[in-house]
Amino acid sequence: MNDRPGLLLVHAFPVDATIWQAQVASLATPGQTVVAPSLPGFGGTPVPPRQPSIDDYADALVKHLDEAGVKRAVVCGLSMGGYVTFALWRRHRSRIAGLVLADTKAEEDNEQGKAGRAALAAKLREVGPEQAFFSATPPPWLRAESPHWAMLKATILRQPAEAIAQAALVMQGRPDSRADLPSIDVPTAVIVGEADPITPVANSQALVDGIKGATLTVVKDAGHLVNVEQPAAFDAAVKALLARVKS
Ligand code: MLT
Repeated sequence: MNDRPGLLLVHAFPVDATIWQAQVASLATPGQTVVAPSLPGFGGTPVPPRQPSIDDYADALVKHLDEAGVKRAVVCGLSMGGYVTFALWRRHRSRIAGLVLADTKAEEDNEQGKAGRAALAAKLREVGPEQAFFSATPPPWLRAESPHWAMLKATILRQPAEAIAQAALVMQGRPDSRADLPSIDVPTAVIVGEADPITPVANSQALVDGIKGATLTVVKDAGHLVNVEQPAAFDAAVKALLARVKS
């Protein structure tokens, strides 16, 4: 096992680990291990035979750390990846050396949100991702003018409908993480695209207000998938956090 903290990148919904391509290229060095796994069912991994929970996703990440020989890591969770990061904190905090919480929030879904997740899961199973996401205006994962829509669409359409449906229900079933924020005692950076309509800046501000010593970076000219839209600004904020983390 490696004593230097690694960097664990946890992707958003409904994509896979390839969304971290730019980060892996710029952040992985001989001295910095980067682990960027796909969550269960995504990225060509086996689709779980039964509905997983957010805790199952967190436990799967720990297996990836074990396989990579990483004892402790800075965990960087983007959106759904942030929800999983809170579960990781609750269950495996001894493995966490620092946190990057990007375009995410601590609140659970409200009743309307939970109903929307159930409807989305049913639709995905019935008609598949292309029709579920792209028959009307696609969800605002990127700004409309982003040049990355073709890449994003292709990434989404590579994922099995069942894995995406399960992930929607994982998010539906996740608990409220607000009570966990005061217990976070590792260096934490919160990053958000200034034009994120899914988890807006106010959600990030609430994280910063709740986590002692957390910093906030609001990235210009970026929507929800801030690492895709502005990789240089995103990577700079992650590097600054890595520098704050003790070996
Ligand atoms: C994500 O980007 O992971 C999701 O859009 C988050 C969510 O739907 O709550």
